[in-house]
Amino acid sequence: MKNIVILISGGGSNMAAIVRAAERDRWLERFGARIAAVVSNKAEAGGLAIARTHGIETAVVPHKEFATREAFDEALAKAVDAHSPALVVLAGFMRILTPGFVGRYAGRLVNIHPSLLPAFPGLNTHQRAIDAGCKVAGVTVHQVTTELDHGPILAQAVVPVLPDDTAATLAGRVLAQEHQLYPRAIAAWLADTSSHKP
Ligand code: GRF
Repeated sequence: MKNIVILISGGGSNMAAIVRAAERDRWLERFGARIAAVVSNKAEAGGLAIARTHGIETAVVPHKEFATREAFDEALAKAVDAHSPALVVLAGFMRILTPGFVGRYAGRLVNIHPSLLPAFPGLNTHQRAIDAGCKVAGVTVHQVTTELDHGPILAQAVVPVLPDDTAATLAGRVLAQEHQLYPRAIAAWLADTSSHKP
């Protein structure tokens, strides 16, 4: 069984899109994969309730209760490892992870970032794309390495920047693409790792 653990901090719309795709596209039968748990650093993350309605286990590791990033990441890793994950998916998880955490899940830790990386790593990607006069923006799914918003690119989708766009309208258009791209990229990863099996 390939267990997938999804980490969120907020609304969890990407997580919900992944959960829906897993059900709709029968990831269990096709890849022997299931969403084993959703873990949040915030108890109030809206995505936790969505996960529960799909019968998925949830856990909260509140980062504010830990004195250091290392201590938080250690507790987070414990919550994640409880589900023996084949893949750890960052979906709107808004904490920078320590090299220790990233190294522990090397090759099985993926993230979605709302820009066409390597352009605009970090925050406020949509406003920065508009300010730079970009004609296209987009979204990237990538493997996580110790450098923030870097790492091998797994998939990208392009979205036009329209003349009247604000950061909010552009973000909405990009988010709709995120919901298509992330489940597809994960399914491709699962198919790839299944085909390497003896
Ligand atoms: C997404 O735009 C994601 O790319 C970014 O944060 C947003 C999270 O949205 N890092 P949601 O929690 O998946 O709804």
